[in-house]
Amino acid sequence: MKTIILYASKYGSTEECAKMLTEALEGIEESIELVKLTGKENVDLTGYSTVIIGGPVYMGKLKEEVKIFCTQHAEELKTKNLGLFTCGMREGEEALSQLDAVFPQELVKHAKVKDHFGGEFVFQKMNFLEKLIIKAVAKAKDDSSTISPSRIQGYARRIKN
Ligand SMILES: Cc1cc2nc3c(=O)[nH]c(=O)nc-3n(C[C@H](O)[C@H](O)[C@H](O)COP(=O)(O)O)c2cc1C
Repeated sequence: MKTIILYASKYGSTEECAKMLTEALEGIEESIELVKLTGKENVDLTGYSTVIIGGPVYMGKLKEEVKIFCTQHAEELKTKNLGLFTCGMREGEEALSQLDAVFPQELVKHAKVKDHFGGEFVFQKMNFLEKLIIKAVAKAKDDSSTISPSRIQGYARRIKN
């Protein structure tokens, strides 16, 4: 039984979550592959029984590479034990509805496990416009992280059950 985790990340927090999920799965699953989507890779999903796809949300949209991958592989993904996750600064029910809205509906319906792992604001990594948006919209001034290791651990257990 093999698992693949595919993700995209602009500033690194989704990457960090994908690595934490890989570590959490290492005790449960015999083979796990971690792939960063760039939009140019050719990923062959044959042989993977579990596929987990994650991406950050920017301005209410899933990072483009993740969206493209999901759309291009939708039919095959519907034959897999599928997990979806998002990273972002929305919280609670709002974050879960956001996940349902950003991934293709057919995959949202098929997914066995869906969750939001939290996110980070790191002002040093943002460009000028992003800083302005975050200060104005999110009213945030300082760096913060809402990444939840316990949600990631729970996700690892649920996807393999
Ligand atoms: C310009 C901008 C827009 C954002 N829009 C959203 C959003 O719509 N929803 C959300 O939950 N988080 C939003 N965020 C927070 C990011 O999703 C969060 O910083 C995430 O951890 C980024 O992931 P990455 O480091 O993997 O790129 C936004 C952040 C920035 C800088």
